[in-house]
Amino acid sequence: MPLVPMRQLLDEAVKGNYGVGAFNVNNMEQIQAIMSAAKTTKSPVIIQASRGALQYTNLVYLKHIMMAAVEDNPEIPIALHLDHGNSFDTCKQAIELGFTSVMIDGSLEADGKTVASYEYNVEVTKKVVEYAHARGVTVEAELGTLGGIEDGHGADQINLTDPVQAVEFVKATGVDCLAVAIGTSHGAYKSLNIGPDGKPQPPTLAMDRIVEINKRMPGTPMVMHGSSSVPQELVEEINKYGGKMKAAFGIPMEQIQQGIKNGVRKINVDTDGRLKITATIRKIFAENPGEFDPRKYLGPARDGLAELIAGKMRDFGQAGHAGDFEQKSLDDMKRFYQSA
Ligand code: G3H
Ligand code: 13P
Ligand code: ZN
Repeated sequence: MPLVPMRQLLDEAVKGNYGVGAFNVNNMEQIQAIMSAAKTTKSPVIIQASRGALQYTNLVYLKHIMMAAVEDNPEIPIALHLDHGNSFDTCKQAIELGFTSVMIDGSLEADGKTVASYEYNVEVTKKVVEYAHARGVTVEAELGTLGGIEDGHGADQINLTDPVQAVEFVKATGVDCLAVAIGTSHGAYKSLNIGPDGKPQPPTLAMDRIVEINKRMPGTPMVMHGSSSVPQELVEEINKYGGKMKAAFGIPMEQIQQGIKNGVRKINVDTDGRLKITATIRKIFAENPGEFDPRKYLGPARDGLAELIAGKMRDFGQAGHAGDFEQKSLDDMKRFYQSA
């Protein structure tokens, strides 16, 4: 069974009123953890790789590990998505590699840092949509900017998405789904809010923007980036075993679920997985300083990650939906876009 177009997973999520987690990967253990969670919870799933991940895995390794995941799990619909594509060429490269979905992040210029003009965003997104849809591949775009700079990608300012402009943008570009900026940021440090007890508080989110955008274009799936919850017990565990993380706070699950009720269909999670892997490995190293077999720490890290992801799949509502539909091919989608 080949990979499925992400558009199909999102369309099904719209019908069933649930969200689908999109989990970032860089190696075999992360892919295996996601697949184990999807199998346990019978979930359709989006696996995504950033530009950094493509570089790290030298492209071809990622492709073949993904193919192994597909072969090993024919009953699970899996979409492979490029996260934060910075240019037409990066998106083209991912499509050539076999990705069934790409994000063109035209909210920033190709350097991945400079906030781009609306006109630039429309132009580059349209170009990617034309190329991708002709091949049946799904396209995600972004309007507005998130906070947080990870691996050199990201703006240092948050610009909330304007609901009126969002409708105009989707019409002008023909994208399948839209990443919206509502105050989330990438990474572990999402909030500078300090509560009366001196402890960090979750960032304040502009949920009203999601409600408003959903009212104006109810069928268009929204994407929530920067959706890690940054569990405090993981930060504490990391610091207990020698880590030095500063006070960090993420997005509470209830807020994500509120987003899902109002049209968010794709939820991007990377940081929580990184925290889980790091906490597990630090503990093992601290308790067994003589350990040097990578299987003895990567294995438990993989198991812990699978558990964390399975919990999210249940919370997002995608659990139990893997077998709801016949899996579509890119050719099916090509015909769909041609007739639209
Ligand atoms: O959007 C950011 C993701 O967390 C990917 O991060 O660029 O470090 O792979 P990365
Ligand atoms: P987190 O850093 O909150 O996990 O967000 C990941 C993300 O949005 C990837 O595109
Ligand atoms: Zn993101």
